[in-house]
Amino acid sequence: MNEKLLVAEFLMKLLPDMTKEDIAAMLEYPADKKMGDLALPCFKLSKILRKAPPMIAQDLCSGLEGMGETKDVFEKIESVNGYLNFFISKGNLVKDLENIEKDENYGANEDGKGKTIVIDYSSPNIAKPFHIGHLRSTVIGQSIKNIHRFSGYECIGVNHLGDWGTQFGKLIVAYKKWGSRERIEEGGIDALTEIYVKFHNEAENDPALNDEARAAFTAMEAGDEENLALWRWFVEISIKEFKKTYSLIGADFESWNGESFYFDKTDRVISELREKDLLSVDDGAEIVRLDEYDMPPCLILKSDGSTIYATRDIAAAIYRKENYNFDKCIYVTSAGQSLHFAQFFKVIGMMGYEWAKDMVHVPFGTVSIEGAKLATRTGNVVLLEDIFRIATQKTLEIINQKNPDLENKEEVASAVGVGAVVFHDLSNNRIKDVNFMWDEVLNFDGNTGPYVQYTYARCCSVLEKSPMTLEIRPESGYVLTEEAESAIIKTLKLFPEKVRQARLDLEPSLIARYLLDVCASFNRFYHDCPVLKCEDENVRRTRLAIVKATSTVLKNGLTLIGLKTPKNI
Ligand code: ARG
Repeated sequence: MNEKLLVAEFLMKLLPDMTKEDIAAMLEYPADKKMGDLALPCFKLSKILRKAPPMIAQDLCSGLEGMGETKDVFEKIESVNGYLNFFISKGNLVKDLENIEKDENYGANEDGKGKTIVIDYSSPNIAKPFHIGHLRSTVIGQSIKNIHRFSGYECIGVNHLGDWGTQFGKLIVAYKKWGSRERIEEGGIDALTEIYVKFHNEAENDPALNDEARAAFTAMEAGDEENLALWRWFVEISIKEFKKTYSLIGADFESWNGESFYFDKTDRVISELREKDLLSVDDGAEIVRLDEYDMPPCLILKSDGSTIYATRDIAAAIYRKENYNFDKCIYVTSAGQSLHFAQFFKVIGMMGYEWAKDMVHVPFGTVSIEGAKLATRTGNVVLLEDIFRIATQKTLEIINQKNPDLENKEEVASAVGVGAVVFHDLSNNRIKDVNFMWDEVLNFDGNTGPYVQYTYARCCSVLEKSPMTLEIRPESGYVLTEEAESAIIKTLKLFPEKVRQARLDLEPSLIARYLLDVCASFNRFYHDCPVLKCEDENVRRTRLAIVKATSTVLKNGLTLIGLKTPKNI
């Protein structure tokens, strides 16, 4: 059972007006372990109980000591300066160790049973490079999806590709003027970007090009087969390249319905908005005014009658509700798009859909590399492909120094190199801007992905070398002899709660940072407590169980944040 609930269950008997959950929410994990495993700051109760915190702590303490059962669960309960500190007993930790060690799925829960989420993430734009900015949406989104799945939710991941809009008119005109089939087949997205950039440069002197582009897109919307065939080809080339990246980082999608999928579904949105009298005309365009909500209007139809990003997003949301009947629809994009989401969520609410409240935008900060901001215009676009190639290469060099005889070196170098980049991305609160420094990302001893993967591999190697991994448990039960043993079990016990909190906050960094705590705690244990060389059989088996339990938590945790778990590094 969750530690907080365990303590709350006892306290409940002394605080009859409060629920177990309310009490659990007041409990804190003291930063200093000398203050116990859990603490109740009693000032939180002084208003309700009309007593000074030290007195409350004192009264609760004697009350708890009066209950016989507390003896089995707590080693000690003390009242210090208005805090009530709980020290969980070893007997209880042993039970926890048994539970974790035998459960491969440790950390999972069923909170989402019978519920569905749709999560829109990654969603790159066709014919534009997949750069490190897109990596964030992909890894944060994939991890949020994994966490929900681990919590029993049915999850529909949608790659809402940017595959429709006037930019395709430009690309078609550019291709017809300056492109060649061979060059594009050979160069892929790079070659497409090249002609797209050329279009922009040329259009500065020759504005008629823009009219041509508009006409080309209008023709596409009207079903012009020649243009549509080119567009389909651009989409295919781009997806092929995106999939290479996805396979490296283990991203997968249940749906690839991009913006074009909603082309024939926007008419309905427009008539509905019109019927509900929500549209106003503004300079020839049609908009939904949002002054009342302190937001600029949401543009629905441009003056030339074409739909835009927001129109397709409204159509997509309605489609998702009708087809998946989601309990929550989550969108993962950079914070730069926050207004767009706030606007169209509001429009959906104004249309009378009560489920507008179930739409959530999950924003994240920007990325810079070695301190330099990424911008397409200044040419500082760093391609993900290059980053992963460099990370893998650098990891391979480290492996060649540290462990030159390792089998499948290339495969491991890719798992660790790519994992380092992903972990770095996920290890800070998502809203914070990320600065990508190579030395930091790949440091095997720092707070990095390689460090966590390496600790997992260390656990695996201990278990592999042990002759009795299958039957770890001694007849007489586990025995805890060292402080470092208790400490790591206490850390492992937090995993289910971290999974739950990461889901509620839509914050994978909680898991990434927790895994660093597990590694620190495990490495202290590993340093203080010999495992395979331990003479006492019961102690040795207990320590093996700790290694096994740690490996489960690291494996499940790494998988949740999208890292691979090689057994040998
Ligand atoms: N393609 C967009 C971009 O790269 C992201 C799409 C996010 N999803 C959505 N439903 N709007 O900026």
